[in-house]
Amino acid sequence: MCRSVADAATILTVIAGRDPLDNFTLAQPDVVPDYTKALRKDALKGVRLGIPRGFSPGNQNIIAAFNASVEIIRGLGATVIDPTDFPSLAEIRASGNETIVLDTDFKVDVNRYIDGLLEVPTGVKDLAGLIAFNSAHADEELVPPFWTDQSIFIASQNTTVNQAYFDALAADKDLGQTRGIDATLKMFNLDALLLPTSGASGPAAIAGYPLVTVPLGFQPANTTLSPAQPTRSMGPNQPFGVSFMGTAFSEFKLIGYAFAYEQATHNRLKQLAFPEAIPKTQLADIIGK
Ligand SMILES: *[C@@H]1O[C@H](CO)[C@@H](O)[C@H](O)[C@H]1NC(C)=O
Ligand SMILES: *[C@@H]1O[C@H](CO)[C@@H](O)[C@H](O)[C@H]1NC(C)=O
Ligand SMILES: *[C@@H]1O[C@H](CO)[C@@H](O)[C@H](O)[C@H]1NC(C)=O
Ligand SMILES: *[C@@H]1O[C@H](CO)[C@@H](O)[C@H](O)[C@H]1NC(C)=O
Ligand SMILES: *[C@@H]1O[C@H](CO)[C@@H](O)[C@H](O)[C@H]1NC(C)=O
Repeated sequence: MCRSVADAATILTVIAGRDPLDNFTLAQPDVVPDYTKALRKDALKGVRLGIPRGFSPGNQNIIAAFNASVEIIRGLGATVIDPTDFPSLAEIRASGNETIVLDTDFKVDVNRYIDGLLEVPTGVKDLAGLIAFNSAHADEELVPPFWTDQSIFIASQNTTVNQAYFDALAADKDLGQTRGIDATLKMFNLDALLLPTSGASGPAAIAGYPLVTVPLGFQPANTTLSPAQPTRSMGPNQPFGVSFMGTAFSEFKLIGYAFAYEQATHNRLKQLAFPEAIPKTQLADIIGK
């Protein structure tokens, strides 16, 4: 969500920490590190990384670029063990627990978010009202060929915080943390895991553990633009990334690894955005003003 690892580290340093309005943040360590202190070009030296190949995407351009990045990371002094799959891999793939948690949390959090707004010009009060508003204004809100149905919202609206939700949450913790990331790190004596970004967000989200993504490459310019189904999943020069994934509160280490790789490659700049899309404002222009 930022242009550089340095920007991400700066923003995380500001937004991290306990928030009385968000119970999930209360388990954090007392002191928030200054994550900008993790920005060291030699941060990959002597580090042990593992590749959970089971989460790799099928796209061969991504795999080829990822494999090349593994060699760069080895060149920066890291030991890379390949493969290092989760003991829980087959169960994670088959599990519907993430969907239950996601759908339920979405409703709870959207309702809480709307409830906290001082003014809502549309009069929408909650997720149910939002679904009704979209239906009543379909010409603006549900435009073909993109999202014309609200099935994901409706599935979320249909949930309740009940025993099935708490069971799914506990199953995710077991699959993603205990028998997933933590088991794999321990089994291979690793500092972190390395994998293509497409495929990385699922296991990290199920565990509730940190993940940092850095630009890795771009699809070729002659890539066929995929149809809107309902969003486009592939197109010419589409960027993709490489991710570093770790255990709870390992952000400081992960940011260092991401920075070392970013500084050695500067992949982001190998395809420039349209001039109109290149921001002219720096964080320093805004922070503290
Ligand atoms: C946090 O947890 C406390 C105790 O369970 C509860 O009273 C409070 O409503 C929760 N706050 C939020 C924002 O969820
Ligand atoms: C990437 O590396 C893996 C592991 O060495 C190998 O099995 C696979 O064939 C490679 N794929 C590509 C596209 O280079
Ligand atoms: C949740 O995960 C557990 C452990 O793998 C599994 O037994 C259960 O069927 C899963 N629940 C759903 C709804 O997929
Ligand atoms: C709503 O939940 C019930 C019970 O879990 C289920 O049978 C039904 O299919 C769900 N409906 C939708 C629209 O998701
Ligand atoms: C794109 O170009 C490469 C080589 O330049 C070629 O191998 C590939 O088939 C082309 N792909 C498409 C979709 O035209």
